[in-house]
Amino acid sequence: MKTIFSGIQPSGTITLGNYIGALKQFVELQDDYNCFFCIVDQHAITVPQDPQTLRKNIRSLAALYIAVGIDPEKATLFIQSEVPAHAQAGWMMQCISYIGELERMTQFKDKSAGKEAVSASLLTYPPLMAADILLYQTDLVPVGEDQTQHMEITRDLAERFNKRFTEILTIPEISLPKVGARIMSLQEPTKKMSKSDPNKKAGISLLDEPNQIVKKIKSAVTDSEGIIRYDKDNKPGVSNLLSIYSILSGKPIAEIESMYVGKGYGDFKSDLAEVMVNYLQPIQERYYQLVESSELDEILDRGAEKANKVASKTLKKMENAMGLGRKRR
Ligand code: AQP
Repeated sequence: MKTIFSGIQPSGTITLGNYIGALKQFVELQDDYNCFFCIVDQHAITVPQDPQTLRKNIRSLAALYIAVGIDPEKATLFIQSEVPAHAQAGWMMQCISYIGELERMTQFKDKSAGKEAVSASLLTYPPLMAADILLYQTDLVPVGEDQTQHMEITRDLAERFNKRFTEILTIPEISLPKVGARIMSLQEPTKKMSKSDPNKKAGISLLDEPNQIVKKIKSAVTDSEGIIRYDKDNKPGVSNLLSIYSILSGKPIAEIESMYVGKGYGDFKSDLAEVMVNYLQPIQERYYQLVESSELDEILDRGAEKANKVASKTLKKMENAMGLGRKRR
């Protein structure tokens, strides 16, 4: 069986963007791959986090992974900071990264723009991400489109390591969803939906209550044309809503367009809100059963144990290849 690794930051409650771009793929792939799914809390602290909120978000994300359909009997679910090999291999990856290539990363530019003080870790986020992936000898990384650049540098770093030291690291491939690789903000549809967006109306959280969903969809930015049709360049707001509608209802976009011929945005939006509420309801029910349970701790304990075993094996190989410490067998 080939191996999958992917992670999500506990930097807020996950959005429909995270779900459609990443989690939904995870669920679809878990039967056919040896999967490692990670709550990347060390990545989350590259920007300031309130410690209590971070703890809460870690638990919440773990429960959401399972609530959306990750089966802990099939996939390994764990917290990054509970597997020390990530930070250790992350350092090794930093040592073979160049400042110039890290400064070119769009995420670094976006997240550091206009900030007076920028943490060094925001710059060295990609080598840590590379370590996360490479420690599991990963074949495939399911992510949203925004992570394409980070995946390219991960592959570059793996190739550089193999060439400079010993051929021990698997070069991973990226897997993007066919539809919904980039779900856009409801308020600024040319910008991606993000869980840490300070404008709470911009994203749908997986835990939003029905009345919040209705309000957010109602206030989603559209255009003045009044026709429900997919045209990403000229109608980014409506096109984004159409993509979401299609993914959640399982209906092709063309079928949805034909359902609303002669109707306005009001009808379209209220039906979309209903589809969304119905889709999220069973996820939320399962989430609330799990989030405070000891079952969740047991799953995470088992996950950390398994991840530690696999990751420390690769770490040893990497240390031997780089000449760190003493030779170990
Ligand atoms: N808008 C999006 N559409 C599709 N996929 C998305 N992803 C994120 N936003 C969208 C995918 O979700 C996964 C988890 O991402 P992450 O938590 O590691 O960080 P991110 O990509 O930076 O996501 P956010 O929501 O924007 O987080 P913050 O606000 O903390 O920066 C990834 O697979 C990502 O591609």
